[in-house]
Amino acid sequence: MQILVVGSGGREHALCYGLVRSSSVKKVYCSPGNGGIAEQAECVTLEGDDAIVTFCRDKAIDLVVVGPEQPLVDGLADRLREAGICVFGPSAAAAQLEGSKGFTKDICQKYSIPTGAYGRFDNAADAKEYLGKQSMPIVIKADGLAAGKGVVIAARRREAERVIDEMFDGKFGDASREIVIEEFLEGEEISFFALCDGETAVEFGSAQDHKAVGEGDTGPNTGGMGTYAPAPIMTPALRKQIMQEVILPTVKAMKAEGMPFHGVLFAGLMITRDGPQLIEFNVRFGDPEAQVLMMRLDDDLGQLLYQAASGKLPANPPQFRDEAAVCVVMAANGYPGAYEKGSEIRHIDEAEALPGVKVFHAGTQAKDGKVLAAGGRVLGVTALGGNVLEAQTQAYAAVDKIDWPEGFCRRDIAWRAVKTLKAAS
Ligand code: AMP
Ligand code: GLY
Repeated sequence: MQILVVGSGGREHALCYGLVRSSSVKKVYCSPGNGGIAEQAECVTLEGDDAIVTFCRDKAIDLVVVGPEQPLVDGLADRLREAGICVFGPSAAAAQLEGSKGFTKDICQKYSIPTGAYGRFDNAADAKEYLGKQSMPIVIKADGLAAGKGVVIAARRREAERVIDEMFDGKFGDASREIVIEEFLEGEEISFFALCDGETAVEFGSAQDHKAVGEGDTGPNTGGMGTYAPAPIMTPALRKQIMQEVILPTVKAMKAEGMPFHGVLFAGLMITRDGPQLIEFNVRFGDPEAQVLMMRLDDDLGQLLYQAASGKLPANPPQFRDEAAVCVVMAANGYPGAYEKGSEIRHIDEAEALPGVKVFHAGTQAKDGKVLAAGGRVLGVTALGGNVLEAQTQAYAAVDKIDWPEGFCRRDIAWRAVKTLKAAS
């Protein structure tokens, strides 16, 4: 197959890495790609849906894999399907599972999918009245896409009221014209992935991420400072429960609603005392979750994505290695606040020379034979190991080979899993 990947981050680098290793795949293009992706795929710059359709026809592309959520919410998959091009990724209607938190809560309520109690509001007065009847802390969410920033956990009522006002005053533009107020869930959080073909779904691994910028999970939230897989909490029984109670009912629900879901369903779940509860759905792979999934995948990614896109997934879940994987994100100094671009990163090749290591590029640019930083999250230094401690040790050995004074990383990625492992031995 010839495949076009759409996107430019670490997730797309990981997807390209998995695709070029697939025996079903002959050639990978990526639009627009980045400095690291260019080593694996032919990067092309396609502006707008029409340019993508034309390119797919010219190059006889067999499958388009859409990385980020925005083009899916905007209808790229619909355009491609109308043009008869096979695409991995949901329609705009099905992408509402990520594009509208209220939509997802209503689906959960209608189809008895476990999630926290909630209310949906389009004005501050009603929202505050509902708030008055809830216990604290409480979670307030902008309904639409807000680049991962539209969720606030408020400890006190006064703070919650202020957040409600800010959201309706347009803090997140159109995304906060509606809000969801949601029960605060307690437990351990996990990211669970399933490939879906419109009718059914197969498990595609899980991971845990660290959203906070600082060690010990402190400081402001980011897109993700690191991930590890597998998560120790994910027993076979829990995986089965998540498939039975969350994923399969959602796929059935979306079909019943006339919006069959094709692509990857990424469930953010809280494992509470009462079992798994849905926090949110995403309609694409996680970043940097994809990095650890692709390192552990021991199957033909191209074929799997094609099967999901064309409506015939195999009954058995894909194969993953027994080894653990850890991904440490290196970000530009200042991230998630203001940061500079253009600094040079050296010795990535030395890091990648270590066994089991792959350095995924999230925001880089290749220029005159140099690798330059071109974003906030810049690299995803990823390693496999016999267990999570070995993977963590190897990932940091690789980080230490990289010469980039203008960047930083957290030194404690996977701490929780390492602690569990040490406690057990
Ligand atoms: P989201 O963008 O919906 O994933 O929310 C961002 C983060 O806020 C999640 O990863 C959770 O850590 C936290 N969060 C969201 N909803 C809840 C909830 N109902 N209870 C507790 N924490 C939540
Ligand atoms: N790492 C979280 C996300 O991709 O949404």
